[in-house]
Amino acid sequence: MITKKLDTTKENIKIAAQIIKAGGIVAFPTETVYGLGADALNEIATSKIYEAKGRPSDNPMIVHISRIEELDLIATEISNTAKVLMEAFWPGPITFVLKKKECVPSVTTGGLNTVAVRMPSDKIARELIKESQTPIAAPSANLSGKASPTNAMDVLEDMDGRVDAVIMGKECQVGIESTVLDLTSDTPVILRPGYITKEEIDKVIKIKTEFDNSLFINPSEKDFHPKSPGMKYKHYAPKAEFKIVKGNGIGIDKVIKELRDKAENEGKKVEVLYYGEDSEKAAKTFFADLRRLDREDVDLIISASLKPEGLGFSVMNRMMKSAGYDIICVEEENDDSIS
Ligand code: TXA
Ligand code: MG
Repeated sequence: MITKKLDTTKENIKIAAQIIKAGGIVAFPTETVYGLGADALNEIATSKIYEAKGRPSDNPMIVHISRIEELDLIATEISNTAKVLMEAFWPGPITFVLKKKECVPSVTTGGLNTVAVRMPSDKIARELIKESQTPIAAPSANLSGKASPTNAMDVLEDMDGRVDAVIMGKECQVGIESTVLDLTSDTPVILRPGYITKEEIDKVIKIKTEFDNSLFINPSEKDFHPKSPGMKYKHYAPKAEFKIVKGNGIGIDKVIKELRDKAENEGKKVEVLYYGEDSEKAAKTFFADLRRLDREDVDLIISASLKPEGLGFSVMNRMMKSAGYDIICVEEENDDSIS
């Protein structure tokens, strides 16, 4: 199939919306990552997404809306807590899991009786949904298992020839996927950490949220049963070997240097990712960095762990998966030179 590359003109958004209405699939920018969209209420259209991504069909998709009125079309039993959260964070990078309405095909929700809904803040995404006159089901626009694309060229790398069109928008502002919050039981549960943090959520509601336990379990362990189907699949794996060095002592730099020197002596191409404690920057560039290192045929990637707090926790959730949980813990060293 020939993939149309559409610049972000009004005309082109209309062309993309026509494709969605006709049951086609279009990749488009959002503030988090690029999505691969189809009419959420058309099961033939949404099943094309699984095919284009090579994605297991039990992995449900997020349904994107542009106005709050569209929520009643697809979800029911919307609690006061849900309304407060929507008021506080929508449009924006947070997805709520709610009871689904009959009209949402089970192909879209991977057979679940719940539906994940998000109202993105990105203007192009909102315009596309509005023009399409239907909610848009969209997972991230990558081949299953690869890092989510955060710019149009990275989308084309995976999707050229596999989708009807790509809207060639700007680089995504956030760079990691939305927070997924399950609101179907009394306690809100974070199924996937994202840009909106637990601390921010807990500030606006009376009930304290919890993290899904599986977020703290290595997926290779047998008691790993995430509530969000997507969290169980292999994710974001680069071609290179990837090691994370963790600890808060000055020993980290020494360990990274030793790892680098040893691998380089063996003739390997090594790249160290430095984010310091800048979790905003890490979120924005990590996925693009992984894709670049794949293209550069790097053999070993080394990165220091970020503090697993707030947005840092969300970035580390992705980083640990990409590294296949290959983590080296450095004991804190006493630095006698500081008096
Ligand atoms: O930022 C984002 O969320 C991006 C953009 C395009 O909006 N989308 C995205 O979609 O990351 P995807 O399909 O790559 O990830 C959706 C996650 C998966 O882990 C999936 O299992 C979970 O949300 N999910 C979707 N529907 C669910 C449901 N009904 N119950 C539990 N988890 C659900
Ligand atoms: Mg994804």
